[in-house]
Amino acid sequence: MIIAANFKMNLTLAQVNEFANMLNANPMPNVEIFLFPNTASLAHLLVAKSFEWGAQNAYPAYNGAYTGEIGAEILESLHIKTVLIGHSERRMLHERHEFCVEKCNFYASRGFKIIYCIGEPIEIREKGQHAVYEFLESQLRDVPLNYPHLHIAYEPIWAIGTQAAQPEQITQTHKDIKTLCGSAKRNVLYGGSVKPDNVQDILKLPHVDGVLVGSASLVLDSFMKILKVATQF
Ligand code: PGA
Repeated sequence: MIIAANFKMNLTLAQVNEFANMLNANPMPNVEIFLFPNTASLAHLLVAKSFEWGAQNAYPAYNGAYTGEIGAEILESLHIKTVLIGHSERRMLHERHEFCVEKCNFYASRGFKIIYCIGEPIEIREKGQHAVYEFLESQLRDVPLNYPHLHIAYEPIWAIGTQAAQPEQITQTHKDIKTLCGSAKRNVLYGGSVKPDNVQDILKLPHVDGVLVGSASLVLDSFMKILKVATQF
């Protein structure tokens, strides 16, 4: 199972390093853990022994004149080799599909692990599963789907920070994503209101290979509960 924590614009350096201390002291068998802290903390993170740090954002270039961005040279110098791409909160800001694809191709070319987020808005979900399929197909267009270190995170926008999608919706959509990826082996994580009290029911669903957790990852105790559940799978 893969459990990823997206801290978004939360938690200070001291707080994220508390997560590192706890995880380093309590390795979780069978669980691949990724933590995505704020960019400003990346340079001062404690060494990750039983998990991996990742960047919430990265520009598709080695270095250069890109004010406010962070590129591969800086990330690699900090031993960060995992990146989150395509989160709906960044797409809502300014990131277009083509730019997400460019990022994905660039970081794939540098051997990074990539968690690539896709997910439909409520208007599409209301039209039914076929519309969702077509929407996700368009979000996966030109993404390097054969790249071995690519994980897809299915995050229906309407389920983020609200209430998790229904089990049937998750199962069917993950199945569809694996079909679109051309491989049942492609890891597909679910994201959207994953909590300690629903994670077991989500992880046991067919075609679910892990979860991407937002708000429930911000409290160390609640994140540890999620990880403990994941060790049972
Ligand atoms: P949430 O966020 O768990 O708070 O719904 C998930 C995400 O945006 O990755």
